[in-house]
Amino acid sequence: MNLSIDKLQEISNIYGDSFYILDTEQFKINFNELQEAFRNIYPNTYIAYSYKTNYTPRLCKVVDRLGGFAEVVSDMEYDIAKKLGVEPEKIYFNGPYKKAEAVKELLLAGGTVNVDSDYDLEIVKEVAINNPEHNLSVGIRCNFDVQDGVLSRFGFDVNSKEFEDAIDTIRQISNLKLDGLHSHFATRSIKTWPQRATGILELVDKYFEEAPRFLSLGGGLYGKMADSLKAQFDVEIPTYEDYANAVANQFKAYFKEKGKQPMLLIEPGSALVGDAMKFAAKVVSIKDVRDKKIATLLGSIYNINPTLNKKNPPIKVYHNEDNDKEQLTYEDLDFGGFTCIESDYLYRGFSGELAVGDYVVFGNVGSYSVVLKPPFILPNFPMVECNNDTDEIYLIKRKECFDDLFHTFKFEF
Ligand SMILES: Cc1ncc(COP(=O)(O)O)c(C=O)c1O
Repeated sequence: MNLSIDKLQEISNIYGDSFYILDTEQFKINFNELQEAFRNIYPNTYIAYSYKTNYTPRLCKVVDRLGGFAEVVSDMEYDIAKKLGVEPEKIYFNGPYKKAEAVKELLLAGGTVNVDSDYDLEIVKEVAINNPEHNLSVGIRCNFDVQDGVLSRFGFDVNSKEFEDAIDTIRQISNLKLDGLHSHFATRSIKTWPQRATGILELVDKYFEEAPRFLSLGGGLYGKMADSLKAQFDVEIPTYEDYANAVANQFKAYFKEKGKQPMLLIEPGSALVGDAMKFAAKVVSIKDVRDKKIATLLGSIYNINPTLNKKNPPIKVYHNEDNDKEQLTYEDLDFGGFTCIESDYLYRGFSGELAVGDYVVFGNVGSYSVVLKPPFILPNFPMVECNNDTDEIYLIKRKECFDDLFHTFKFEF
């Protein structure tokens, strides 16, 4: 994406002072590269994009057009997929709470529901029994130890009686098909990945005479990032190929003899969208507090990193040349946000030139940002996309307004 101060000012003049910039081209590149890394080893691999990570409809539609699937975890996310025209067969419903109506609708339409608990199982059972003319596709969410020191709360403990019972229940109902197994582990470290494949394949061995239709290894992959960001992690950041090598070879070897390769699903969110969005924030003021230099931005940590992970994202400052404010050189300046939370800093320790009216553009803000931004102090900023070839600017999400946030409250008492 070619950004310049002129471009930033053009966007600002039309849509407002601070904004998200979507890089759909980067998102497509990531999708294709990740898919190819897996397919080079195990051709029957598909990407089910994790909507929750960044459910901007523009991105979800791109996934659909590229032949990817929708991984949804609520009726709200299911509604996004429906509104975009995603075929039900391409929708996988995960998550620890599922609204019964949405489960029923998706199952009857031909989509797949991965049961997380007895609560889900009861819903699925009832839909099956009440609709004997429909064959329904279900998976089961499997919880096992991947040696990451985390006791996951998702899915059935595969060593429990509940898990055995759930499999039996599904298999006893003739129009319910146990179509696959699902797993998801949040730890992105490559160390957990071979273990994920081993765990799932052991379950296939134990519970399936014939290979199921799909096996999902979930999300939990790092995406691409600048070296300055990589350096802030205490583990090496794996490449897409590293993840593929860690699991797809096991799948390939295991199913070599079996005559049928089930679909290997991965559910990336961050790995696809992390570096596909930037946030441009205008410098509002620069102050000196007992020798500490602090710039306040029209932006907040809640715009770019609501999980508050304390990492400094990659940044680039664009100087406003028409500005009458003097560019000064600063050492160890912190970028603070517009909120009244003391700890609201978007970046610590900037050194370089800066003036009021400049733009600070934050990279790698695509995952868990817009979807987690609270309606705190200000409604959210708009999102645009720039076409490098035509130089056009498209609005992806308009600026939020007072009414967007307050129409659910009562004002008359
Ligand atoms: C079931 C499931 N799949 C995929 C993901 C996406 O994870 P990530 O963005 O880490 O790839 C999540 C995240 O919580 C998830 O719960």
